[in-house]
Amino acid sequence: MTTESRGDGNPAIENLMAEKRVFPPDPAFSRQANAQASLYDEAERDYVEFWARQARERLTWTKPFETALEWDLPFAKWFVGGELNVAYNCLDRHVEAGLGDKVAYHWIGEPGDTRTLTYADLLREVGKAANALRELGVEKGDRVAIYMPMIPELPIAMLACARIGAPHTVVFGGFSAEALAGRINDCGAKVLITADGGFRRGKEVGLKHHADEALAATPSIKAAIVVNRTGHDIHMVPGRDHWWHDIVERQSPDCAPVPVDSEHMLYLLYTSGTTAKPKGILHTTAGYLLGTSYSHEMIFDLKPDDVYWCAADIGWVTGHSYIVYGPLANAATGVMYEGAPDTPTWERWWEIVEQYRVTILYMAPTAIRAFMKQGTHHPAAHDLTTLRVLGSVGEPINPEAWLWYHEHVGGGRAPIVDTWWQTETGQILLTPLPGVTVTKPGSATFPFPGIGADVVDANGDTVPFGGGGYLVLTRPWPAMLRGIYGDPERYRETYWKRFPGKYFAGDGAKRDEEGYFWLLGRVDDVMNVAGHRISTTEVESALVDHKSVAEAAVVGTKDDVTGQSIFAFVILKADQTPSDALAVQLREHVAYVIGPIARPKQLMFVPDLPKTRSGKIMRRLLRDIAEGRALGDTTTLADAGVVDIIREHSGRAEE
Ligand code: WTA
Repeated sequence: MTTESRGDGNPAIENLMAEKRVFPPDPAFSRQANAQASLYDEAERDYVEFWARQARERLTWTKPFETALEWDLPFAKWFVGGELNVAYNCLDRHVEAGLGDKVAYHWIGEPGDTRTLTYADLLREVGKAANALRELGVEKGDRVAIYMPMIPELPIAMLACARIGAPHTVVFGGFSAEALAGRINDCGAKVLITADGGFRRGKEVGLKHHADEALAATPSIKAAIVVNRTGHDIHMVPGRDHWWHDIVERQSPDCAPVPVDSEHMLYLLYTSGTTAKPKGILHTTAGYLLGTSYSHEMIFDLKPDDVYWCAADIGWVTGHSYIVYGPLANAATGVMYEGAPDTPTWERWWEIVEQYRVTILYMAPTAIRAFMKQGTHHPAAHDLTTLRVLGSVGEPINPEAWLWYHEHVGGGRAPIVDTWWQTETGQILLTPLPGVTVTKPGSATFPFPGIGADVVDANGDTVPFGGGGYLVLTRPWPAMLRGIYGDPERYRETYWKRFPGKYFAGDGAKRDEEGYFWLLGRVDDVMNVAGHRISTTEVESALVDHKSVAEAAVVGTKDDVTGQSIFAFVILKADQTPSDALAVQLREHVAYVIGPIARPKQLMFVPDLPKTRSGKIMRRLLRDIAEGRALGDTTTLADAGVVDIIREHSGRAEE
């Protein structure tokens, strides 16, 4: 960790800390709340027993566990000796309890088509999909890759995998062929489930042609299942590709759930780290299901009649934990929407809230800021009075956005839960409890009951209240990652080495005088663009992959809507001439290699990059240049001012 990459000294932080307003819970809400303040004390007395009790009471086991926790730092095993099935816990037991007709998902396609799936429907579809996977030779332990739009077949595919004990890896539909192939090859997936395409911003977005390109380089894949979503003309490879409506539809819906060990791998989800190679974050069965379902019920105050809408994409962890596993284990009724918030107009989300009488809404600050920019008239034109809990996730929420959300979406009544967590943590770890916690706009408040979190300085010592440092987790928790797929050393190195005995989250945080946690963003070389984690190194290697590029450096700069946006500095090879057209080409190249979410918003050609004597790129200086602090306005081509600044620092400064 270099000092230059620390999150402090940022004016936004000063702003945050100046935010003094507090929002105590409404007593009427508190009286009916699922969570009570006593949970904190109860969990603190014996956190392992606290989770063990929840696990006994909430999950349905085919074989009870013997030991709640085996902690061989940094390797945790929860609920050791137990056996259960995730799909059984998410579906069968609810149907057996008489909830077969309860809606699991109200699904809304972007073009306006809709589908309603009850728990009985889901159970039937999952059974058929599981039998189709079996027919294709998938057995317990085999990996299945999933690359799909936000359609009901996506959660059905995930649950079908879980039903037969086959770990899945969902690859976000916005990722490129290359990114998909890399993930498939890392985990050696046997089958790919995909679709011809999906709808986004009024357009058909193709998936199958990316999948075809990926599958040219993935020897482990034996077969693909393809959902017909858009009707787009695609090529089906005979012997390899099967239409979902053929191979799944003709199966029997009966497929006995396979009991698996508590620590059986449920899924891998790849996420960006500080190197160019994404990490396969490994989640297992019992602890994950407990952590997600219990936190979901407490943090969103879920009641049987709620209509819960998490507006994330299932391709990210938020969708895995809080659209699929947590809510379904709780027999929740959810809304699932395929498309973009502005299609056909910025009214879309508020229409959905009004029409489906959504009571709980969970979304990202970047979306809130995008709505804010459009003005208050869109939410004001709809009846949003059903909303009773609002959630935020993915990045620090600035107080202005928090207050706008509170007032214009929550009508000044609905408590806001600002939830901090990560792909690695599996479940929400820092959050208010609605009805219990006095909230402050911009603060994720406190660790969830049973969770140990601290803010430490560079030596690993606790920073007293009022100060900032690094966010660490001090105890294991049920939904924590069990490792990085195939690379235990990288797991140790990435998360447990910086502060021995503690999990280092990669985020900076401060605690105020009352002990409230305020997240300050990443302290490593990971950017957060519209709530998506993108590594600077990954984008840099995509740029250098282009034939005209000699060297590249990428920084995240402040962006009003997406939190950060990507700014690339590029040194061209000697025989290349900078031009606007080449800049466009390079930005597109990154979109091609990684996916459109990683396309740099701005790109500047430079003759040199400022580096320390030890050869480290001085990102702070580049950020200053990118944000115009050093220069005023920025253009594609480095002007004399930038050239001077870069020359002045190159190879000279220590930092
Ligand atoms: C950031 C998303 C501040 C943080 C669930 C973390 C947040 C990264 C918050 C994980 C929040 C997430 N306040 N920052 N409420 N929630 N983050 O793995 O930097 O996609 O490390 O998981 O998002 O992103 P990931």
